[in-house]
Amino acid sequence: MTDTVTAVERAPALIPENAAFLTSKVLWVRHWNEHLFSFAIERPDSFRFRSGEFVMIGLPGEKKPLMRAYSICSQHYAEELEFLSIKVPDGPLTSRLQLIEPGDELYLGKKPVGTLVTDALLGGKRLFMFATGTGLAPFLSLARDPDVYGMFDEVVIVHSVRRVSDLAYHDELAARLTDDPLVADEAATQFHYVPTVTREPFHTSKRIGGLIEDGSLFAERLQGPQHLDPKNDRVMLCGSTEMIHQTAKMLDELGFVEGSNSQPGTYVIERAFVG
Ligand SMILES: Cc1cc2nc3c(=O)[nH]c(=O)nc-3n(C[C@H](O)[C@H](O)[C@H](O)COP(=O)(O)OP(=O)(O)OC[C@H]3O[C@@H](n4cnc5c(N)ncnc54)[C@H](O)[C@@H]3O)c2cc1C
Ligand SMILES: NC(=O)c1ccc[n+]([C@@H]2O[C@H](COP(=O)([O-])OP(=O)(O)OC[C@H]3O[C@@H](n4cnc5c(N)ncnc54)[C@H](OP(=O)(O)O)[C@@H]3O)[C@@H](O)[C@H]2O)c1
Repeated sequence: MTDTVTAVERAPALIPENAAFLTSKVLWVRHWNEHLFSFAIERPDSFRFRSGEFVMIGLPGEKKPLMRAYSICSQHYAEELEFLSIKVPDGPLTSRLQLIEPGDELYLGKKPVGTLVTDALLGGKRLFMFATGTGLAPFLSLARDPDVYGMFDEVVIVHSVRRVSDLAYHDELAARLTDDPLVADEAATQFHYVPTVTREPFHTSKRIGGLIEDGSLFAERLQGPQHLDPKNDRVMLCGSTEMIHQTAKMLDELGFVEGSNSQPGTYVIERAFVG
């Protein structure tokens, strides 16, 4: 007799309305490995955001909703809102969020915000987006925004992860976003994806700082100088606090100036998590 495993289908988990937040249904969930998953929710009609912004996402808590910041991966014009999430084993939110299924409801903040936006950068020729781990999320939105290709000649994502299976979205990015009709033509020549895996064998294995310092980030790939140049290069950093701190220090020493929404500069930062 052959064993058959029947998926036990549960009823969608619906949540009580809360005046402070929007409520939205989960459309799909994709698990990359035991540490990472992506999911999409319906986009409420009223919800607008700029590529690179983050919003609060959550579930009911004991007394009030348990909300956490999440960068939006989708294009600013997309019909759904897509997110890339860590699974923290004992994390108050993600220990529960990793169990969501299509049809379940989540709370969604009403006001997206953030500094990883082109408004916070001065004009330039090359845009470098440096990410560790889930810090990739906002750059998925920016790299799929047609306006970004109008603003910069070259658009580069460097994604540093521990293990090969942590390279979420690797295939789409390595294919230079050919499945995305609104940017495919520009991305074919202007977009560069540089994955690096630091704790398993891979063709590229240095941390972000190492790739900049030894010049391998630029060699044979990019036009322009084989180093970071504040005159024409613009940089966005998203990931661990330590990576941001060290890279920002290097950028400051090179003459880059941190920007904000009110005062655009030559680089911008956002932590991918607190802790
Ligand atoms: C501006 C901003 C944007 C964010 N965007 C995202 C995002 O797009 N995707 C995402 O997964 N998280 C993101 N986060 C982190 C997120 O808000 C939560 O921390 C995360 O969902 C875990 O929630 P938790 O309640 O399970 O654990 P928490 O109590 O929030 O975190 C517990 C610990 O887990 C670690 N941790 C938390 N989040 C991460 C992470 N993303 N990567 C590595 N380690 C982490 C930290 O050591 C932290 O102290 C963002 C945080 C900020 C401040
Ligand atoms: N991803 C996993 O396989 C894994 C496994 C078990 C637990 N976890 C937990 O999940 C959490 C997040 O893990 P994560 O892998 O997303 O994040 P992470 O530890 O920040 O590592 C992501 C990438 O950032 C690099 N990095 C770390 N510090 C840096 C710095 N100062 N400058 C430049 N690059 C730097 C790492 O390189 P290095 O490898 O050189 O540090 C790695 O390539 C951790 O708290 C961990 O406890 C993850």
